[in-house]
Amino acid sequence: MNAPHLLTGDRPTGRLHLGHYFGSLQSRVTLQNTHHSFILIADVQALTDHFHHPEKVSENVLEVLKDNLAVGLSPEKCTFVLQSQVPEIAELTVFFSNLVTLGRLQQNPTVRHEIRQKQALFGESVTYGFLGYPISQAADITAFQAEVVPVGEDQLPIIEQTRELVRSFNRYYGEVLREPRALLAEHPRIRGLDGQQKMGKSLGNAIHLADPEADTRQKIMQAITDPQKARKNDPGRPEVCTVYTYHRLFQPEHLGTVYQECSTGSRGCVQCKQELAFCVNQHLAPIREVRQELQHQDAQLSEMLLDHTEQARVTSKATLQAVRKGMRLLFKTS
Ligand code: TRP
Ligand code: SF4
Repeated sequence: MNAPHLLTGDRPTGRLHLGHYFGSLQSRVTLQNTHHSFILIADVQALTDHFHHPEKVSENVLEVLKDNLAVGLSPEKCTFVLQSQVPEIAELTVFFSNLVTLGRLQQNPTVRHEIRQKQALFGESVTYGFLGYPISQAADITAFQAEVVPVGEDQLPIIEQTRELVRSFNRYYGEVLREPRALLAEHPRIRGLDGQQKMGKSLGNAIHLADPEADTRQKIMQAITDPQKARKNDPGRPEVCTVYTYHRLFQPEHLGTVYQECSTGSRGCVQCKQELAFCVNQHLAPIREVRQELQHQDAQLSEMLLDHTEQARVTSKATLQAVRKGMRLLFKTS
């Protein structure tokens, strides 16, 4: 297939949630029809902040695969790649590490933000691997010659750094690598149910694709709304309400009504959340159904994942051959 290459992926540290769904999964489903899509399960990257819990990473590899399949990615259209089984990525990471300064890594806003969030894990001293994960992510992308990388907003600085690395690589060693571009989803960031700016796996404020209906309802019923709307018939301010931002995603056609009823005090928060829970559950029902079917197919899924990874390596091996040639590392007996 001559379609442009696309690569994106997830760290298998937990199940995927609505943030992933609106931030990336939905666009993957559309783009798989027009792009040669590599979907990476980034288990090596997951170890950069889970090095002390390897079981948590390995247990989630198939879970993440199931989430991707459940939302509609097809194994006939996409190539799933298990990062740890692609030595070319590790190799390229080493080669790239000469092309980026420590200062540049320390400036990366995504990494800075994550380090701040992980103070408890790293204390004052961050690991070399964590600080360098943008380099290995650049290797993920370029090993498969991806042109398009659909990601959430938080990943933009990483893609920017990849582009810089590609430019320096090509300057020193010839036009070997392709410069990728980020593709931002329509809803690049969705708020946490607790009103935090971001829904996060580790923040405890997420609705997972695989959550049962009752849990989903309960989480929504506990969501933060407009704090000034104390009583049912008080007028509210949808523009500050997290629940309202979810209505925008799940029933855009009724957004005007929700806004109007909330701001005139004719809609109570309990009713409003019940309505949202219904919509979310309705939307997730078919996804959960497929996921349920996949639940007992671990053997087949593992086999498929390894098969796909081997197919993908045809591309990464070819890239590394060109990379080594450019770097004068194809040592041969003459
Ligand atoms: N860093 C991404 C995340 O945390 C996962 C990831 C790994 C990725 N390698 C990638 C995303 C390459 C896009 C391209 O979600
Ligand atoms: Fe938010 Fe709905 Fe309550 Fe208005 S009625 S504050 S939109 S939950």
